Amino acid sequence: MKIIFATGNENKMKEIREIMDDLDCEVLSMKEAGIVVNVEENGETFEENAQIKARAIAERVEDAIVLADDSGLEIDFLNKEPGVRSSRFMGVDTSYTVKNQHILELLEEAEEEQRSARFVCAIAAILPNKEEKIIRATIEGQIAKESKGEKGFGYDPIFYVPEFGCTTAELSMEQKNKISHRGKALTQIKKFIIEYYGI
Ligand code: IMP
Repeated sequence: MKIIFATGNENKMKEIREIMDDLDCEVLSMKEAGIVVNVEENGETFEENAQIKARAIAERVEDAIVLADDSGLEIDFLNKEPGVRSSRFMGVDTSYTVKNQHILELLEEAEEEQRSARFVCAIAAILPNKEEKIIRATIEGQIAKESKGEKGFGYDPIFYVPEFGCTTAELSMEQKNKISHRGKALTQIKKFIIEYYGI
């Protein structure tokens, strides 16, 4: 069985390969599967965007499970912004150092209990028979008072996880995968694939 993951992001490919490792499946990126498609992520929810991407790929392949994800950061104090616009927030070319600094400033007056936030990940799966499944997973945390940590990417340096006492940019990739929104969503999708195929 072949799984095609709709991303050009090598970190995400590494993550999904690690999680699907013990399945008897070949995991391919779009590029490895020879698929070139530019999809506009214009949905209003993470689920819609994941579904738009998965459907665009599924139209072009046969005999493969297609997976697509969409993720982002919801900050309660900012009415769940940047949300589905996480990568476009302040412009795609703006560095995360600048984006993160801006968020810290926007939350300068926020008390600890007002700093709640979560990373969200939706994954859409389309099976070869075109059956669809969508899964959402989250990791709850808080916007830190200051940027900390060098690992990870994006908003990781300002996302504080109370149970670990650090930001997700201070966790190893292995630690983060175990508790992250994407790690949890991928694990649930894996269960769905196992149940569906009885493997
Ligand atoms: P996409 O799912 O590739 O469209 O990514 C959405 C955006 O959400 C990323 O560009 C980051 O800004 C943010 N994001 C999603 N997951 C994470 C994460 O695990 N750490 C930090 N930022 C993230």
